Amino acid sequence: PRRLGILAAMHDELAGLLADMGPDVVVQRVGLRDYHVGELYGHPCVLVLARIGKVAAAATTVTLIREFKVDAIVFTGLAGGIGQGVRVGDVVVGTSLVQHDMDARPIFPRHEIPLLDRAYFDTDASLNALLRQSAAAYVAEQLATDIDAATRADFGIDVPAVHEGLIASGDTFVHAAGMATSLVEALPDVLCVEMEGAAVAQICHEYEMPCAVLRTISDRADSTASVDFRAFLQRVASVYAVGIVRRFLMG
Ligand code: ADE
Repeated sequence: PRRLGILAAMHDELAGLLADMGPDVVVQRVGLRDYHVGELYGHPCVLVLARIGKVAAAATTVTLIREFKVDAIVFTGLAGGIGQGVRVGDVVVGTSLVQHDMDARPIFPRHEIPLLDRAYFDTDASLNALLRQSAAAYVAEQLATDIDAATRADFGIDVPAVHEGLIASGDTFVHAAGMATSLVEALPDVLCVEMEGAAVAQICHEYEMPCAVLRTISDRADSTASVDFRAFLQRVASVYAVGIVRRFLMG
């Protein structure tokens, strides 16, 4: 893409990328958000902190498209692992996104977005392929250099897997095994849960904008999720984002 919009929900998910932007960054403030317009690893980009949740992500996505004229959008951040074999430290590329808290029954089927006639929003296949390759190369070649053995042991990160598939989004931090079980019952194929991706994917569908959602697993969406999430956010979230997005943009 000619100009890429990159968003994240929290500061620590974006900080490393912001620090790596070239010197000629112009910051424009719209609707409480700072849009950083410039170059990242030699590529024209707009970086912005979307803030947390579907509304925040949707509003920011519209602004990236309408005000900043981006040609494609990538969301990067953390997620809670739900699917079997989706472990802390793994990477998930979302090929399809669903809003697990959308429920307009009995007027519309569960999860369906009223009037759009669909519950699932697909992301862009070529962006996904490139992200998957970038993530696989990063975890195989560089991760163990960037994150020391003691830190990896703390998080139980061995050789991270890169998954591709369904991501569920909702305005809830999933922090109990029972919540995660209900999610799997409602959506058996879900790999991980977060709070923004499906909102970005819906807006991008409405504007015919190619998009992708890249997530690193910080927790298992269970009773230790909040502690695990905060530690992961502080210590390694930015490392993953920089490592993968850098390879993605440098091709
Ligand atoms: N992002 C990271 N972990 C999460 C969780 N457990 N629930 C929702 N969003 C998350």
